[in-house]
Amino acid sequence: MLFASVLSCAASLAQVSYDVIPLPRSVRPAASGEAFSLVQGATVTYASGNDQMASNARLLAEYLKLDAGLELTPKADVKRSAKKNAPLGAAVTLRLVDPNAKTTKKNVPAFFSDSPEAYRLTVGAEGVTIEGTTEEAVFRGIQTLRKAIGTQGGEAVSLPFVTIEDEPRFTYRGVHFDTARHYFPVDFIKQFLDVMALHGCNQFHWHLTEDQGWRFEVKSMPELAKKGSVRKTTVLGCNAGIYDGQPYGGYYTQQECREIVAYAAKLFINVIPEIDLPGHMLGALHVFPELGCQNADGTEHGPYEVWPHWGVSHDVLCAGNPKTLDFLKRVYDELCDVFPSKLIHIGGDECPRNRWKQCPRCQAKMKELGLTREAELQTYINKEMDRYLSAKGRTLIGWDETLEGGLSENAIVMSWRGMKGGIEAARQHHRVIMTPTDWCYIDYYQLKNDRAQPQGIGGYVPVSKVYSLEPVPEELSDEEAQYILGPQVNLWTEYVGYPEHAMYMLLPRLDAISEVQWMPKEQKDLEAFKARLPRMLELYRKLGYKYCYKQE
Ligand code: ACM
Ligand code: ZN
Repeated sequence: MLFASVLSCAASLAQVSYDVIPLPRSVRPAASGEAFSLVQGATVTYASGNDQMASNARLLAEYLKLDAGLELTPKADVKRSAKKNAPLGAAVTLRLVDPNAKTTKKNVPAFFSDSPEAYRLTVGAEGVTIEGTTEEAVFRGIQTLRKAIGTQGGEAVSLPFVTIEDEPRFTYRGVHFDTARHYFPVDFIKQFLDVMALHGCNQFHWHLTEDQGWRFEVKSMPELAKKGSVRKTTVLGCNAGIYDGQPYGGYYTQQECREIVAYAAKLFINVIPEIDLPGHMLGALHVFPELGCQNADGTEHGPYEVWPHWGVSHDVLCAGNPKTLDFLKRVYDELCDVFPSKLIHIGGDECPRNRWKQCPRCQAKMKELGLTREAELQTYINKEMDRYLSAKGRTLIGWDETLEGGLSENAIVMSWRGMKGGIEAARQHHRVIMTPTDWCYIDYYQLKNDRAQPQGIGGYVPVSKVYSLEPVPEELSDEEAQYILGPQVNLWTEYVGYPEHAMYMLLPRLDAISEVQWMPKEQKDLEAFKARLPRMLELYRKLGYKYCYKQE
């Protein structure tokens, strides 16, 4: 019933509107009320000699064809090289502005803050111009144009004259995806990235390994992914004790990872890989049981199975075994080779210390290092990893547990157990990513009685809750607040086994977080956001994206 009513009202939605999500910072319609007609076959022009601008133009053409059936022709302007100013005379002009020129030269707009993502989109008698000081900025403007046009097609689209000036509030705008509890195909990861780009998100946090499966190919240890990715069976329901009896597996080859990194780069999205350590490691322990702890009597605790159910395993990497760090370094060597991201996630969450307490190797290591608490063993591993990654020019991110034993100044803390860890980290002058469960865990239900997922993780995070997040806690001083890089939503997948379901969990909560990530706090307005949402939902229907259509 409700679905039908959303559909019928959607029929009247197909018109150009600059009320997009996330809403740009400044939208100034021309007083004249005139409009520019963007016709089928019109050109999208960009200065020649710049591959990223060529890619931007191609992507804009692809988007408008898919979204609205409007066919535009990308065209490099060979007369004006990338160094010179804009090509003229096109229906849509993509233009790079010299960042050093700022206001000093003619033709360079006064707008443009220091943000490399600031863009200006103007529609006037000569057509549409999207300009910024970087290719990335132009890409953000392309997404705004695309959403403004929405699904409106036909022979021509009438774009009211306007000047839009925009830039994001936060430099880090993340989305996390757990592809370890369940494996998702490469094509779906690309679609996930498309949807992120549509919302101006720029960091894809890719959770690659778990107790339930190791999904990253390590060439020097081929059996790790081959065997470690496969669990023999999977529990049904919420750990109901009944199993499906079906082997379940899948992993990403390095070639596929590189393909995804390259795909993301075209969308100006950075891919942050996570190999979760020292807990959540049964995928690896199944293949290399010698990396686990010993029992109190000195016998090996393994063998281990790739876990067929959900929860937090007490079986973790042995902190006292030198082979553990050797193993991790080999894994991270290949990870860093495949993923150019400056940011690398080492996990660090939910690591029980029961095994370490009884393991002779771990206890000997504590003695050697003069440690008094098992928790300090995790700090020891974190610091080793931190040093190792720093030497490669990378920056470590850890879940907020990693803060407990102290981290190097450079490391970034991802605050998930509420805001507390983030506040403490910012006060210690660590950079922080805010992803507190109560606002950001989009594996939680979005409807109180969600029949689409009768069995799920629990929790309740409706769109309005996500929207209400303020990532910079009031307790922080202005100076401390600078350490908050931005917010992220997390999609864990114990109970999300298929691409359609993942998309359903994401949309439209991604819309809500995108306004938190992008818009100044004072401009956020839940009711206005809800009024903007139906045009986005219309686009999702057109593109075949599943979403939660009912809002509470
Ligand atoms: C987490 O949700 N265990 C980071
Ligand atoms: Zn041990």
